Amino acid sequence: MPTYAVLGATGNFPDRKVNAYCRSNLKLLRLIPSIADSKQVKIFEGSLNDTKLVANCLRVTRAVFLAVASTPNVPGCTIAQNTARQVITACEALKQENERRPKLIVPSSASVDHSLMSDQPALLLRVLYCAFQYVYDDLKAAEHFLRSQEDLFSATLVRPGALCNDEQRGYELDLQHVQFPLSFLDLAAGMLEVADDSSGGMI
Ligand SMILES: NC(=O)c1ccc[n+]([C@@H]2O[C@H](COP(=O)([O-])OP(=O)(O)OC[C@H]3O[C@@H](n4cnc5c(N)ncnc54)[C@H](OP(=O)(O)O)[C@@H]3O)[C@@H](O)[C@H]2O)c1
Repeated sequence: MPTYAVLGATGNFPDRKVNAYCRSNLKLLRLIPSIADSKQVKIFEGSLNDTKLVANCLRVTRAVFLAVASTPNVPGCTIAQNTARQVITACEALKQENERRPKLIVPSSASVDHSLMSDQPALLLRVLYCAFQYVYDDLKAAEHFLRSQEDLFSATLVRPGALCNDEQRGYELDLQHVQFPLSFLDLAAGMLEVADDSSGGMI
């Protein structure tokens, strides 16, 4: 059974064999107590800047989901870029060891490409962008960085619209248009489908 790595594991993650990276084991177990005795989940706790830790979390996984995020719209926010760079550094370390590198699955946002929401009023899109400008600018820069690495590493950018805590209601992978809100569980299911797709490549 394949293993998936999740970076930012105190959000939601799939019911599969998972290497879960988090800053705080205690917080993760408080949020999801059921994983304490789970044989499906292996926890990797520490700093995202610890290349060895991140490389071990990614080792022998089919895909890694880069779900580290910071919600506050802080000027100069670089969390998505830092995560992308740290994952590439860890993948390079695995390459040096002749280990297989996982496919990178990057939950970005439809707000970085308004053509995906062309049926929405332009004013709404502008207001939304202004409200989270620094978060979106960070995501854009992270996407740009990952694109620059695409000769070496396979990454897929997934761009959902607004996400919500809801039950699973079904999803569709669409390259032209997004529908929202989408539940976190549907996003996770969609990203797993992308992870399991053998054709790979950038979306
Ligand atoms: N929320 C939305 O509406 C939305 C829309 C489109 C795309 N997305 C994408 O979906 C993904 C998840 O977003 P979310 O809103 O669900 O985020 P979230 O629930 O707030 O989860 C963020 C995760 O990042 C971790 N994290 C934050 N700062 C960190 C740091 N400096 N070092 C290590 N870990 C750190 C958090 O860990 P702690 O628990 O330790 O803080 C948490 O596990 C992101 O990639 C985001 O771009 C979200």
